[in-house]
Amino acid sequence: MTDHPTYETILTETPAPGVGVVRFNRPKALNALNAQMTGEAFTALEIFDRDPSIGCMILTGSDRAFAAGADIKEMHGKTAVDMFMGGDVTDWSRLTKIGKPIIAAVSGFALGGGCEIAMTCDMIVASETAAFGQPEINLGILPGAGGTQRMTRAIGKTLAMEVMLIDRRLTAEEALHYGLVNRVAPVETYFHEAVELAKKVAERSQVAIRLTKEAVNKAFETSLAEGLTYEKRLFYLLFGTEDKAEGMGAFVEKRQPVWKNR
Ligand code: CAA
Repeated sequence: MTDHPTYETILTETPAPGVGVVRFNRPKALNALNAQMTGEAFTALEIFDRDPSIGCMILTGSDRAFAAGADIKEMHGKTAVDMFMGGDVTDWSRLTKIGKPIIAAVSGFALGGGCEIAMTCDMIVASETAAFGQPEINLGILPGAGGTQRMTRAIGKTLAMEVMLIDRRLTAEEALHYGLVNRVAPVETYFHEAVELAKKVAERSQVAIRLTKEAVNKAFETSLAEGLTYEKRLFYLLFGTEDKAEGMGAFVEKRQPVWKNR
């Protein structure tokens, strides 16, 4: 059982064995990402990350809004020096340090920082009403929490330019077509779909899952040759685990493996 502190702007739940959910909960602001809410969300994800009973997390919002962006009212009075010297409410480096996979379950608005935080997760399940966009250009700024990089890698340069230069919003079906999301489901069932996907992650060897996430993420930060070397190191590392012996033993003995996560 995960022990969380009291939160004011997020909700947590464990809807299925091994699955920890963090839900943005600032409905009046369409889940605009302020420092308190992202701080609480990252704390909750870190707690789930340390909990051996949890194998996968879901980050979600409401059916109307996953998150409508970084909180413009919070950023409104800030100067460049404020942001640079540690007041950047869109510094989400804590999120990229989470070891277990995170699925974004996205419905409604996923704009600006909302889209960026979804793209920072490992997989995205979208509802049919999801709208992905980077409207920062309308505020006289640019996406500052990974949008120019992650969106471009996900959907390609020309469409990413359109999304960011003229605030072209992507429907859920477009996001699926261009490879931004894993799957699209009706608004009534998208969260359930995300939980089912998370259960499939959580029921596997957590050591292998964690290192696989690490290896895939490495692909974004290195050359192919270095990435292949890194992958090989992790591959060999897994040959030292009890789960490797169990997984291969179970295959040979024609039975289901029982993972120890060791
Ligand atoms: N920051 C702060 N408050 C926000 C917000 C945001 N990003 N988005 C919505 N809200 C607030 C609104 O101010 C409004 O609050 P009040 O009732 O107190 O006025 C409330 O949420 C409801 O919003 P609307 O009345 O505007 O609802 P709507 O249905 O008419 O429009 C919307 C919805 C299209 C999402 C519109 O609210 C909107 O355009 N929001 C801003 C989207 C945006 O520009 N996001 C990018 C932010 S910058 C960023 O994210 C930088 C980065 O790269 C990290």
